[in-house]
Amino acid sequence: TYIVNDACIACKYTDCVEVCPVDCFYEGENMLVIHPDECIDCGVCEPECPADAIRPDTEPDMEKWVEFNRKYAEMWPVIITKKDPLPEAEERDGEAGKLEKYFS
Ligand code: SF4
Ligand code: F3S
Repeated sequence: TYIVNDACIACKYTDCVEVCPVDCFYEGENMLVIHPDECIDCGVCEPECPADAIRPDTEPDMEKWVEFNRKYAEMWPVIITKKDPLPEAEERDGEAGKLEKYFS
């Protein structure tokens, strides 16, 4: 599966949702997540994210992100249409420690 990590937080560009063939992105206030059980591993969303927030779970130490994505995908509504990024997207892009700072 692919997952969304904390680089999405406070940016939420939503370019990713336009290309997903199975509509498995879910939207929270500050970020999106991917449902790991619905993702078919096609990889087309990864290069679309300007914040580089989408990663394959084959990278090291991904288990926490898979579980994070599964947890919130089951709580949040699906998003299938691109919308405007969050107002501070450019300023927050690439900032460290966003999970602690902005995620609630
Ligand atoms: Fe959707 Fe493919 Fe990205 Fe999985 S890898 S979230 S199926 S676009
Ligand atoms: Fe987030 Fe990147 Fe999609 S910032 S909303 S994962 S395009």
